[in-house]
Amino acid sequence: MADLAHAVHGPRDGPVVLLVHGFPFDRGMWRFQVGPLTQAGYRVVVPDLAGFGGTEGSFTTVEEAALDLLQLLQRLRIPKAVVVGFSMGGYVAQALAAVSPKSVAGLALVDTRAEADSPEGKAKREATIASVQQNGTRALAMAMIANQLTEGTRDSERLLTAEVRTMMLKQSKPGVLGALAAMRDRPDRRDLLKGLQVPALVVVGEKDGVTPPAAAQVMADLLRCELVTIPGAAHLSPMERPDEVNEALLGWLKATLPAAAQS
Ligand code: MLT
Repeated sequence: MADLAHAVHGPRDGPVVLLVHGFPFDRGMWRFQVGPLTQAGYRVVVPDLAGFGGTEGSFTTVEEAALDLLQLLQRLRIPKAVVVGFSMGGYVAQALAAVSPKSVAGLALVDTRAEADSPEGKAKREATIASVQQNGTRALAMAMIANQLTEGTRDSERLLTAEVRTMMLKQSKPGVLGALAAMRDRPDRRDLLKGLQVPALVVVGEKDGVTPPAAAQVMADLLRCELVTIPGAAHLSPMERPDEVNEALLGWLKATLPAAAQS
């Protein structure tokens, strides 16, 4: 088990929102969400999963990462949180709902999917693992940037693009290798989502090529919940189109778990 580095923002008595980052990122990817959510009265917990950001070690199954989150919630004496998971963070959020449904007050799945990796997907993970073992994480990070932000954003928002690239480049090799194995081996969660009885939301970038809108539709159908498509966003919608993502999250949060807004 890993002791997760984390930050807690917002009022102590606000409903808790747990933001779970994607791959190969850390809690920095949520920086545009933290302010608006705390101002709306939510207590926001943002961890770094094992091997990412300020947390050492690694995790090799999504359940292990979910148990790390559970331990963090217990340490913070938080019995229940609304869990918002982006991409790999969405796989971990679904694992948390599987291992400890009572800890999940609501589930927002952002640019992620319910299905396991296909055989081709698993073979691609294997190739990526071999390449990272041999050459380190740099080539992977450099190759991944094109999927995170649209070409227009990469051309016009150089600072944001550099920030995203830097975040990907700084993640540890053991963290990256462990997470790749965890994503390769994660189970299909369609039955889980079908049976979940919590408020849910699905958000996807219109141009997400990693976890495309069709995968988001599958989750929304299973969860019987709203699907919000973010115009002009690729995979990393919380950073590429933060205002639209915040509007979707806050609209849903206020309807399902109201908080007293902060002045
Ligand atoms: C992520 O964005 O967290 C991952 O790239 C998702 C994946 O590879 O399945």
